Amino acid sequence: MKKVVLLTGLFMTLHVSAQDIVLPEPVKTGGMPLMEALSKRSSSREFSVADLDKQTLSNMLWAAWGFNRSDKRTAPSASNKQELDLYVVLRSGAYFYDAKANKLVQKVKGDIRGKMGKQDFVATAPVNIVFVEDKSKQGSGATDSGFISQNIYLFCASENLATVVRAWFDANVVKEALKLEENLQPILTQTVGKRK
Ligand SMILES: Cc1cc2nc3c(=O)[nH]c(=O)nc-3n(C[C@H](O)[C@H](O)[C@H](O)COP(=O)(O)O)c2cc1C
Repeated sequence: MKKVVLLTGLFMTLHVSAQDIVLPEPVKTGGMPLMEALSKRSSSREFSVADLDKQTLSNMLWAAWGFNRSDKRTAPSASNKQELDLYVVLRSGAYFYDAKANKLVQKVKGDIRGKMGKQDFVATAPVNIVFVEDKSKQGSGATDSGFISQNIYLFCASENLATVVRAWFDANVVKEALKLEENLQPILTQTVGKRK
């Protein structure tokens, strides 16, 4: 029995690093009717400090940039280059959104939310999403990021969450804080949380 427990533990550490966050399956049904969500879409800069639960995170990230077909996603991408990745910055650290595995892979430990932008709420809101472009893919990140952002806006409207897309951040500070390789460039950010 002990051996089985030990082996199970070993298997889990090999496949899921302790700091990674395995997300529950996203719920892909329901939500607010589209025309109502469009009516409610807006930017808000008033965030509760309360964390979002894992199910909401999973649903939001899938809505933003998840796979809705084997190799294509909820947002369009010029020539399907998929040059963007989402990094999710939470109180506990910064994570790469692995959309295929539906997992947040920890890249940085500790609270670096304050480095993700120049407005006060950024440091205390529960979720900051960084849109990171892989320049080596030679895609259209600036355009493609708008579709992902609007998906997040519509999800937040549907769930009565607050969100604002943000270009007011220091790309060098964000790049360094996320420990991004040379070819990876932060191009946009978006804050999400419960309404205050
Ligand atoms: C590309 C882009 C960058 C933006 N950057 C910021 C920002 O850095 N900070 C901020 O508070 N709002 C930012 N906004 C939000 C706009 O201020 C907001 O969309 C605009 O005032 C219209 O309000 P609405 O989104 O409620 O319709 C940005 C919006 C866009 C599209």
